[in-house]
Amino acid sequence: PAYPTLLTDARGSILTITVNRPDALNALSSKVIEDLEHCIGAVSEALTNDDGAWPVRGVVITGAGKAFVAGADIREMTDMTPDEAHAYSSRMQQVTLAIEQLPVPVVAAVNGFALGGGCELAMACDMIYAASTASFGQPEVSLGLVPGFGGSVRLPQYVGQALARELLFTGRRLTAEEAHNAGLVAAIFETVDDLLDGARNTLELVARQSPAAVALVKKTVGQTQGLPTRDGLKIEADAFRQAFTTADKAEGTRAFLAKERPSFPGR
Ligand code: HXC
Repeated sequence: PAYPTLLTDARGSILTITVNRPDALNALSSKVIEDLEHCIGAVSEALTNDDGAWPVRGVVITGAGKAFVAGADIREMTDMTPDEAHAYSSRMQQVTLAIEQLPVPVVAAVNGFALGGGCELAMACDMIYAASTASFGQPEVSLGLVPGFGGSVRLPQYVGQALARELLFTGRRLTAEEAHNAGLVAAIFETVDDLLDGARNTLELVARQSPAAVALVKKTVGQTQGLPTRDGLKIEADAFRQAFTTADKAEGTRAFLAKERPSFPGR
């Protein structure tokens, strides 16, 4: 297979990537990180064209078996040097940035444990959906470690400083319901099947919108988080200008006024 530690399944334009190391609760070994890097890279490559073809309109990331991802691979970390640990952290951080830079939305479908690096992978996605059995946490301090794939930065962005610091200092896990109430999770589903259907249904809904506009919104939301309002608004106005250069905008507005369904050119 192209990616030994991943399963990939394309249904229409929705790609599902399943981390497939269930015996180690899908822990992010260097091999998994390499496979994710190549797989996300291939999606990005497939979408860097300006001919309006969008072979992928949305990505779901999930885990095989009872875990989403139970963290970085603790076994592999036992004999890493500090410099190797830095490289390991940086490499997966680059993967999280590559997910953020994809021009299509990515939904983390969290089917079970999302701990440490698993919670960090989920937070790099555009939305987190959870099965009722999911749990979330940053237990690094229980191992003498600290988050290395973005948790110290993204968790406070999702849940605010108060809860984020409590979770980072205690390693306490949140249930799916608690994570939902905290704003980490967008929606909860009873079963894993419902979860995957829910994630795909949302992306199908996205796939009916203008691809150019969706890409622009994803970029703008990503770029403006944490900026002073005034600076964020400048970026938004630039994005608004950019939308006016697209064929999708011409088609979308034309179709509305003609009382037709738009057929977006995708550029
Ligand atoms: C390597 C792991 C693993 C991990 C589980 N396993 N998590 N291996 N790395 N992160 C392995 C176990 O060793 C075990 O292997 C098998 O998966 C099943 O796990 P069990 O513990 O037997 O399952 P269970 O009793 O159901 O407990 C589930 C669990 C527990 C609560 C999720 O596995 C757990 O606490 N895991 C570690 C979670 C964690 O601390 N993650 C943060 C890692 S640090 P065997 O061979 O015995 O069957 C991190 C840092 C990120 O993520 C940044 C780095 C730069």
